[in-house]
This record gives sequence, C-alpha cells and structure tokens, in this order.
Amino acid sequence: MCFFPFSSMAQLVKGSTRLRSIPVRFRYLFLLATIFGSSFLLISITNRTEILLVNNDQPLNSLDLHHYDLEHDTSFTIKTEGCTIPGLIALDETIKLFNHPPKDLKNCPNANYTLLQHNESHIWVDTEILQYYNVPKDGNMSCCYKPFYRPKSIVNVFSEHVDDRVQYEDCVEFFSYIEVEHEFVRVSCDYDQKTVYEQYFLFPSKKPFHTFGENKVRIQPQNDTPYYNVIVMGIDAISRLNFHRTMPKTLEYLKKKGAIELLGYNKVGDNTFPNLTPMLLGIKETDLKRTCWPHDSASFDNCPFIWQWFKEAGFYTALGEDSAKLGTFNFAKYGFIKTPTDYYIRTFLHEAEVNVGNTKDFNSYICMGNKYFYKVLLDYIEDLTSTLRYSKLFGFFWEVSMSHDYLTYPMAMDDSYKNFFERLDSSNYLDNTVLVLLSDHGIRWGAIRLTKQGRLEERLPFVHMLLPPSFQENYNLAYNNLKQNSKRLTTPFDMYATLSDLINLEEINNEKIKQRTNSSYTLNRSISLFLPIPKNRTCKTADIDDHWCTCHKGIKLSTKSLEARDAAEQLVRHLNKYLEEYPHCAVLSLAEVLEVTEMMAGQPRKDEVGWREFMVVVRTAPGDGVFEGTLRRRGDQWDLAGTISRLNLYGDQSRCVHHYQLKLYCYCR
Ligand SMILES: *[C@@H]1O[C@H](CO)[C@@H](O)[C@H](O)[C@H]1NC(C)=O
Ligand SMILES: *[C@@H]1O[C@H](CO)[C@@H](O)[C@H](O)[C@H]1NC(C)=O
Ligand SMILES: *[C@@H]1O[C@H](CO)[C@@H](O)[C@H](O)[C@H]1NC(C)=O
Ligand SMILES: *[C@@H]1O[C@H](CO)[C@@H](O)[C@H](O)[C@H]1NC(C)=O
Ligand SMILES: *[C@@H]1O[C@H](CO)[C@@H](O)[C@H](O)[C@H]1NC(C)=O
Ligand SMILES: *[C@@H]1O[C@H](CO)[C@@H](O)[C@H](O)[C@H]1NC(C)=O
Repeated sequence: MCFFPFSSMAQLVKGSTRLRSIPVRFRYLFLLATIFGSSFLLISITNRTEILLVNNDQPLNSLDLHHYDLEHDTSFTIKTEGCTIPGLIALDETIKLFNHPPKDLKNCPNANYTLLQHNESHIWVDTEILQYYNVPKDGNMSCCYKPFYRPKSIVNVFSEHVDDRVQYEDCVEFFSYIEVEHEFVRVSCDYDQKTVYEQYFLFPSKKPFHTFGENKVRIQPQNDTPYYNVIVMGIDAISRLNFHRTMPKTLEYLKKKGAIELLGYNKVGDNTFPNLTPMLLGIKETDLKRTCWPHDSASFDNCPFIWQWFKEAGFYTALGEDSAKLGTFNFAKYGFIKTPTDYYIRTFLHEAEVNVGNTKDFNSYICMGNKYFYKVLLDYIEDLTSTLRYSKLFGFFWEVSMSHDYLTYPMAMDDSYKNFFERLDSSNYLDNTVLVLLSDHGIRWGAIRLTKQGRLEERLPFVHMLLPPSFQENYNLAYNNLKQNSKRLTTPFDMYATLSDLINLEEINNEKIKQRTNSSYTLNRSISLFLPIPKNRTCKTADIDDHWCTCHKGIKLSTKSLEARDAAEQLVRHLNKYLEEYPHCAVLSLAEVLEVTEMMAGQPRKDEVGWREFMVVVRTAPGDGVFEGTLRRRGDQWDLAGTISRLNLYGDQSRCVHHYQLKLYCYCR
C-alpha cells in the first residue's frame, strides 16, 4: 500500500480534507516542512520495523514498495483524497473464530462412483463401477440417452416459467457407450426394472454464428483486428478478505500470474441483482424499471445487456449460472423469453436441478446427481473455451450454489478453482483472454455480520483481473491506470465501463487513453478502470449510497470530552513507548489536545463487535511537537493503527539521536 510518507504529505499540501481538518496555524508548518524538510525529514513511520527514509536524492521508484505480497499499513485499505476505507486484516481477532473449515458441508452421494463417464464426444458405462450399484458386469443394464432443448415455440409468454420451457426427445437406448450429438442430455440406466443411475450432461459443441434477430447464419468475423476474449466469473457473496481466507490457493495462483486486485471495490446495492445490473447494463436497478424492465413480472428481453454489444462485435456470447432457482434473472423474476446468448445453460440447469438436484443446503441444491453444481459450471467453462478456442468469446458465469449461504464453504472450492485456472493457462487460453474473477458482495448474514469488520466486508467484494501478458505491452497506459486504480474507490458501474472498453481494443490504445484522460469525466458514475479514477472521488460522485459506503467519515469530538482526552493520552503513551529505551530523550507529556475525530464508516449497530477508530492530533511538552496518529479502541484497549506523523519541524531538538525514526519523536534532555 502507500508506503510513501511522502504521499500523505503531498496529499496534505494539496488541500485534502485532512488538511482542512487541521487548525490553520499548522497548515503553515506543513508547508515549511515540505519546503525545507524534504531532504531529511521523515514525516511518518510505520508501527512495525520497516522504516523508510524519504530523501529527495533517492529515485522515487526505489521507494515504490508496493508489492502484492507485502504486508501493508493496516490502518487503511485505500486512502485517497475522497475516500479512506478503514484498514482490515483478513484474520482480525473478531473474524478468526468464524474461519473454521466447513465441517457440515456434505459430499454428494456416491461422489466417488461415477457410473457414466464422458468426454467431449462420448458417454460410456464404467464397468469397474457397476458393482457399487449392485449390477453384475454382464448384467445387461440398459441406459436411455434423452436429448432435450429449449423449444422455440412458446405456449404462454406471460408465464412465470417461460424461461424454464423444455422439450425432451425420445430415448436412444445403449448398453456400453454412445456418441453424443446434443448440447443437453439426460441419461438414466436401468437394471432389473429399477433405475440405478441418472445424470445430466452438458456438451458445448460449436454452433453456427447467428446474429441477433435473424436466423441467417453468418461467418463470425475473423478480421485482423486484435481482440481478447473476455471471461467474467462470479463467485457469489465473497468479500475481498473472505476470498483471502477461504481460497488461498486460488489467490496465490492469481497473484503469481500478476492479477490485479481491486482493494476499494465497493458494492452499490444489497444483494446480487442490484450489483449485477450496474455491471451488465451500466445502470441502477431503479433505472431498469424506467427503461427496459417495467415491472417485476416482465422479462429482461428488452434490456441491452453488455453481451449484446460483444455479440455485435463478432463475439460468441455465453451466460451460465450454477443454480436455476437462485438464478440472477430468475429468482422471483421471469428471466428471458428469447435466448439471450449463444450459449445459455439455464434450460439444462433447471432440468438437472429439478430432476437430479440433491443435498439441499439452506438455499441451494449443491449437487447434481453425484457432482457438485459448481464443478458442473467450471467444467462447462473449460469445455466451452476449448470448443471456441479459435473464436472470440464473451462469457459471463456465476457460481452461487456453494458460496451463497455459508462463510467458509468456498474453502471446498479452492482446489477446483486453482486447478481450473492452471488448466486454462496451460491450454494457452489465458494468453488471449481477459479474465475477471469477482463477487457481488460479502456474506450478508451470520454471526460475522454482528462485527464491524463483517459489516465492512459485506460491502467490499473481491475483484481480481487477470490480463494476458501481451496486454501490458500493447496497452501500457491502460494497464498502468488499472494498477493505479486498484487503490481507488471503484464500483460495479466502473466494471461495466471497463468491460465495454474490451469490445473494441482501439478504445484503450495509448493514444486513445491519453485523449480520454484529457476529457472531463471525473464526475461520471461509470469510469473505465483503464482510465485514471480520480483521487477525489467520493461515494457521492461514485453513486454509492451512504448505507453501503465504506469510506471514513470524520465526526469531530470536543477536545474537552473525556474520550478525546483519553485518546490523546494514549497517543502520547505510544510516543513514549518508542522513546523508552533512549534515556537521552525526555518523556513527553500531553500539553494540548488539538483535535480528535472519530472515523466512522457507515452506521454501526448499537451492539456491534469491533473497534472504533480515532484520528488524534496532540501537542506535547517539552518541545511543542505536534503529532498525529490513528488509534483503535476495542473496549478499554487502545491500539495504534499504522503510523504516527510529526506535523511540525523538529529543528535541532533531536540532535542527541541519530536514528531517523527517533529524530521525529525525541526531545533531547
Ligand atoms: C473419495 O475418494 C477420495 C480419495 O480418492 C477419498 O479421500 C474420499 O474420502 C472418498 N469419498 C467418499 C465419499 O468415499
Ligand atoms: C472419447 O471416448 C471415446 C469412447 O471411449 C473414444 O473413442 C474417443 O476417442 C474419445 N474422444 C476423445 C477426444 O478423447
Ligand atoms: C440382455 O438384453 C437383451 C435385449 O433386451 C436380451 O436379448 C438378452 O437376452 C439379455 N441378456 C441377459 C443375460 O439377460
Ligand atoms: C488536453 O487538452 C488540452 C486543452 O484542451 C490540450 O491543449 C492538450 O493538447 C490535450 N492533451 C492531449 C494529450 O490530448
Ligand atoms: C462521461 O459522461 C459523459 C456524459 O454522460 C459522457 O459523454 C462521457 O463520454 C463520459 N466520459 C467517460 C470517459 O466515460
Ligand atoms: C475532483 O477534481 C476535479 C479536478 O481535478 C474537479 O473537477 C472535481 O469537481 C473534483 N470532484 C470533487 C468531488 O470534488
């Protein structure tokens, strides 16, 4: 994170809110400190042992310690002029106790005994497995292969189940194997007049490239303009830090591949739908009602989803979720009448869920026969990318069955996701693909929501963007902006603008980025992450309601109040702790409480578990040093969060020490 003692200084000098919150007489001192002090003055130090000396002679980039792995200043998550999000650590003591492996998670029945195996062209009976189903090897078990599809003809377009319509074809009987010629297939096997096994199969074979509204087949345009496939994969209800806690292997893999993590990605609505609407349409849920989705029982056919723009640009499109019941557009909604994308698996999922869905865990069936639904989706994505490896693809996929209800169930998916990415990479698919792995929000219920961190995490879903290696070379400015924006306040609206920029890559070449950076967009609600997100962006300009906003708001305490006094004393105590081993330095005492501001992030519940945070400015004696620090109060315990800054010059007061850290604090006796 921001390790530059510098930048906090620069920020102060540029007239940030923090500067405005400091009494006038000190502003002058900051300026002095910057002008005269920059070659030797260290403005702040961390509370750990890493100490940085800011020196003008040092090239700036040697100070750029920002690295994915580096533990950062934990007093903030992002810190910009317009928004500081409180610091959160993955295994905070209020959170640790919730992070247990999911003991109650069930395996799918017969998970290890997959009687029907398949590859991309065949389904066959695994004779080794027959005995587990009490079928003798030569027992004459017969299987019924039943293709099904989403019929074009619709009985009732106003039906709530219009998106669930299905047509099965006749059974084709087989005994040992069968060649597959359909996208969706149900297979059941009978022995001795009983069904011993039933499973659903999904085969993403290559389809002709239709354009919208016509049945004419067109060749997918394959001109020479460069493109990247775009794969967006959602995992429902995982905060940025819960992803760290529960899917560490996947995280590690993404890090290794250089994925960019958005630290300040703030949700804009409560649950999935109001967060995906901005991402897929660029508008608010409430705007949807005014435009393409007039009422709750309307279908979404008239809404201009982003995949339509990709389609027009010659991309195959895919939309897939791993739950029919909880489908984003179908949960208490009517879904689509027309088929929205080239590859649309709802018909399949719905049939599979209704007929072989099992192991219901709270909201979702987590198993399709003997296989987890999330695995079905992962395998499908892998097969689809393989089928379309020489075509353009925009795919939007959403996992919900495993992660929706329980904080730590995602632990069970970690290996699968990591292996999935590894395979996608080793097939070289990622060389030409922008992959976005993200969530809509953190977990919305359970005991963790009674903690402050749980409340904040709910509002801060994870986002990782993995760009192909050539991206950084070819779209250097866009890449650097994205990296920079990982530390800015961002939203699903921005994701819409970002994805839109990938429809035509000319939008993000260096020349174009320069031009666009020059246009005035700082107050826009949707800003592409390939452009610099303004530092002064606030929740208001980003259109994040106060209720969801995780940016700090300062509430000034009277400096005479007991709590302010307590906080100030604590800051001085921490200062003296730094000094205690240096007998040359005077013990400091509190001379004046200059300012105490409680840093609030949203409205806490009355009995919320967690810390409160105070920004404290004090003057100490002897020496009249002015210090600023952030303190966290948990019950009666006060901890220093991050750094203590010195806000005025120390001159030769600290001549007796040579340690640059101590030079800030020491008043020589
Ligand atoms: C399935 O097999 C794996 C190892 O092959 C084993 O660890 C696991 O316990 C088995 N699961 C069941 C339900 O038998
Ligand atoms: C799929 O399995 C069938 C039957 O076992 C086999 O003949 C075929 O070669 C396999 N196809 C691939 C692509 O592995
Ligand atoms: C297996 O089924 C076929 C056709 O239904 C039948 O002709 C044959 O006799 C059966 N064999 C055994 C061993 O039951
Ligand atoms: C940015 O805009 C200013 C004023 O409109 C213009 O002078 C300048 O050349 C522009 N810079 C770029 C890189 O387009
Ligand atoms: C910002 O919004 C304006 C008005 O809606 C629009 O014309 C402009 O293209 C947007 N700029 C960017 C960079 O998105
Ligand atoms: C942010 O700064 C830009 C100019 O740099 C200005 O146009 C804009 O109004 C500022 N936004 C806010 C919310 O202060």
